This record gives sequence, structure tokens and C-alpha cells, in this order.
Amino acid sequence: MLIPRPLSFVAGTGSFALTAGTTVSAPASLGGVLAWLQQALRPATGLTLPVAGHGSIALGTDAGIGSEAFQLDVTPAGVTIAGGDAAGVFYGCQALVQLLPPAIHRRARVAGVAWSVPCVQVRDAPRFPWRGAMLDVARHFLPKHDVLRFLDLMAAHRLNTLHWHLTDDQGWRLEIKRYPRLTEVGAWRRESQVGAARDAPGDGRPHGGFYTQDDVREIVAYAAERFITVVPEIESPGHVQAALAAYPELGVTRQPLEVWTRWGICDNVLDISQSTVDFFGNVFDEVLELFPSRWIGVGGDECPRDQWRADPLLADRLAGLGLSTVDDLAPWFLRRLDDHLTAAGRRAFGWDEILEGDLAPGTTVASWRGMAGAVAAARRGYDVVACPDDLVYLDYRQSESPEEPIPVAIPLTVRDVYAFDPVPPGLTADESRHILGGQANVWTEHADSPRTIDYLVFPRLCAVAEALWSTADRDFDDFRSRLETHLARLDALGVEYRRDDGPRPWQRRPGVPGRPGTRDQRAAHIAGLVANIQR
Ligand code: ACM
Repeated sequence: MLIPRPLSFVAGTGSFALTAGTTVSAPASLGGVLAWLQQALRPATGLTLPVAGHGSIALGTDAGIGSEAFQLDVTPAGVTIAGGDAAGVFYGCQALVQLLPPAIHRRARVAGVAWSVPCVQVRDAPRFPWRGAMLDVARHFLPKHDVLRFLDLMAAHRLNTLHWHLTDDQGWRLEIKRYPRLTEVGAWRRESQVGAARDAPGDGRPHGGFYTQDDVREIVAYAAERFITVVPEIESPGHVQAALAAYPELGVTRQPLEVWTRWGICDNVLDISQSTVDFFGNVFDEVLELFPSRWIGVGGDECPRDQWRADPLLADRLAGLGLSTVDDLAPWFLRRLDDHLTAAGRRAFGWDEILEGDLAPGTTVASWRGMAGAVAAARRGYDVVACPDDLVYLDYRQSESPEEPIPVAIPLTVRDVYAFDPVPPGLTADESRHILGGQANVWTEHADSPRTIDYLVFPRLCAVAEALWSTADRDFDDFRSRLETHLARLDALGVEYRRDDGPRPWQRRPGVPGRPGTRDQRAAHIAGLVANIQR
């Protein structure tokens, strides 16, 4: 019944009924979890679930159980949820909600449903501490309301890390008080490319939006109430054209630019200098105030070097920085940011290209170009978040059907995604300990609305959640049968997931060009890209 699949599920006999007499209890330290449970159960049942000395639903912690782990016991007389910590209790509550009829997720009273929970003993603990989703709000802005909804859906799948991709060529989405033009100018673009083909037309319609610092504080607090850490990402030294549009002096050419209206890899990159480091250091100082996360994303991916090579002052610049080749520029810049974050007691988090340089101890690498970065980083002693594009890029098309909306890259079915294992083969036990977990990446070049995000993300994210929470053995048929019930939950939640038989007519984008590829083509491309980090 449960997604993700628990370590142990022992069905008993009978059931526990939620009634007007049902009460709840928890120690003061679990007040937030208790409030969450009351508000999760109340709308559909109409029950107030008052607090009692010892409630019929009793929450507690037990230090012997382990972080994020829980024990859920349902008998006809009551429910007890013991967690190793508050997060474990919260996940026990999420499991309890799943044991109720799917209509529990409706936001108003549902008549005619018996709100009963089957008697059961569940023992559960996550396999990995980093169970994440990356959400790109730079390519298409996602309103705050929908970010909060995304957090609720993550929590329902026991995902605990939102990697929030806040800046890119096409938009800067985070208010920075010291540099207001980042959002006054950088949050808006003239139009957007429609489709993935290189010659795809523009739509002629402006796009934009940004989060104020108050919005961010709200989102971070809302996430924390659901035991989700928000890891912000400020891209550099490539994927920065929105910042260059706001502050051209950050660029190599210093020419005026507009916020980019195309998708892909952009030639306009940061000028690598102490003044650019200082600018980003000031940006990060505001980021650190807003985000308590241990990890802070610095980007690092897909940075073309052509502008640096073409710079007539290149030789002087390299000499001034004590560097020998153009390939040293990005690592030099990223190491400065890395040191800035480390000095503030945090750790840098970057895409696997950052392995081209020497990193501060504790830097964490997101392995996206397959698993080569995961292997290289773990062997070099860096922590790893696995997010290989050929398994967990949820913008990739979901089948071979030409009717998939804007079909990009390779098909990734629910079955494909379910096979994801963050631990690459061939690592020693010591090296494997560096694998913190994994995440699905939700890029939004071709997802211009929350409805499209639903279509791309669900139910594939359910499979990712299980791959990150549950033990390594997989039984797809078993998962699929549990998914049947789970889809009824998503229906009640109002999630417009992709149906097994493909997109509904309004989920298609007829005539909008995609850029599909084969697995062989993709593998060859990636192998070429990662050759220089495999040492
Ligand atoms: C990436 O997909 N460029 C990290």
C-alpha cells in the first residue's frame, strides 16, 4: 500500500476508526508535526482531533530508532507513531495518511467514507539522507503558491531536499537587496523560444517573475515544517546572462545584453576577476542569510571558454591570477566561492564539472552527466548527490511516442526511473559512504506552467522517491501495483500526472519541435563530456 515501500509491513487484524472521539497527543517538541497531522486529517474528515493527555493517535520520539526512521503501530484501540527524531515522526504521519482512503487528500468534507486505518506494524527508515528534487524556476518562473504545493508533494513522498535552481541565462529569480537590478532587469525576458530545435521560433510574449526575500523566508520555513531543506543554487561562471543583462560589467565583453530568450548553452559568461568574485561573494552573503542549508549551490556546469580565449587581455589576466591556461579560470573562480562558503561554515554544492578543479574539503558534487562524476568525486573524497541525466532528468520524454510534449533527449519511463540506484558499481565501501543520495532534476525550458510540471514529474517522481528511500532491491511489478492506489491519492490531490497510455490531448504540443535522441547517441555524447574528470 505504501510508497515508498517500507522495510517491514506486518498486517494485523481489524482496523482503527477515526471518529469524533479520536484525540491526538505529542510532546511539546513535536508540536509542529502534531499541527501538521491535524491539518492533514481535518478537511476531508471534518474531525477536529483535539489534543488529549494520551491521545488515541500518540506521537513520540525514541532515540533508539535512528534519524528519519519511524515505527507505526495501528491497533483497533489506537495509533502510535515513534520516530527517531521529529522528521521520523513526520514520515510516520505521512505513512498513516497513506493508510487512510485516498479521499483523505481532499480539501473539503467527503461524505460517505469510513475513515479507517487497517491494523498494521510498519518499521521504516530511509536508505539515503539526501532525497531530493531540483526545480528550475529560472527558465520558467513558478509562482510561490506552486512552489509551496511542490513542497507538499515532495513531503508526501518523503523527499527532504529541494535543490532550487534560482538563476540562469533566462532569468534571475531571487531578490538581492544590494544589487536590485538582478531582479529589476534580470527577472524579465522579452520572449521565450518555443520548442527544442535550434531554429525554433520565439513566442513574442514577455515572461518573468521573482521571489522577494519575504517570499523566500516563507518558502524556506514552509519547507522546514515539512523537514525539507532548501538548497539554493546561484549559477556561475556560465549560465549567467540574466545577471549580465543587469550588470554588464560582470561580463567579458561588458556589452549590453538582454536576458536570454533562447534555450541551450550560452556563450556569454562571467569575467573572471576579483571584482566578479566580490560581487558574487556579496550575493552569497544575502543568500546565506536567507537559507540555513549546509549546502549552497554554485552551479559550475556548461561554461564555454570561447569568450575567455578570445579576450585580448587573456595572457595578462592569467598572469595576474597566477594561472597557466584558460582551463584554470572556471576552477579558480569556483574555488573562491567555495572558500567563501566554507569560511561561513557552509559547503559548496556544484555540478560535476567542478571536478575539473581542486575543491575545498566537504564540497558536494551533483553527478549529472551519468555517474562518472559520482565515481570520480567519491574516489577523491567528496560527497556526491547522484542525478544522472539518463535516469532522473524528468524533462526528458516519457515514451517513444511522437505525441509526447516537446520530446527531448531519451525516453525515460516510470520503469526506467525506478531502476535508479545512486550508488555506482565499482566503489569500495569507504568510497560508497560519500554517496549522500540522489535527486530528480526538473528542468523547465519546455515546462511553462504548473500543469506541465505535473505531467513531467508524476508519477516518475514517485519512483525516484522509492529508489531513494527504500532498500536497493527492486520489484517493479510490486511498485506498479502500489502505484495504482497512489495514483488515486494524486487524483485527490489534484495532480495532473501522465497517464500510462500517454498524454491527454491538452498535454500534447502538436507542431512544437523537440530534439529526441537515442540512448546510444546520448551515451556517446556524455562519454565525450566527462573524459576530463575521469582521473
Ligand atoms: C545540467 O543539466 N546542465 C546540470
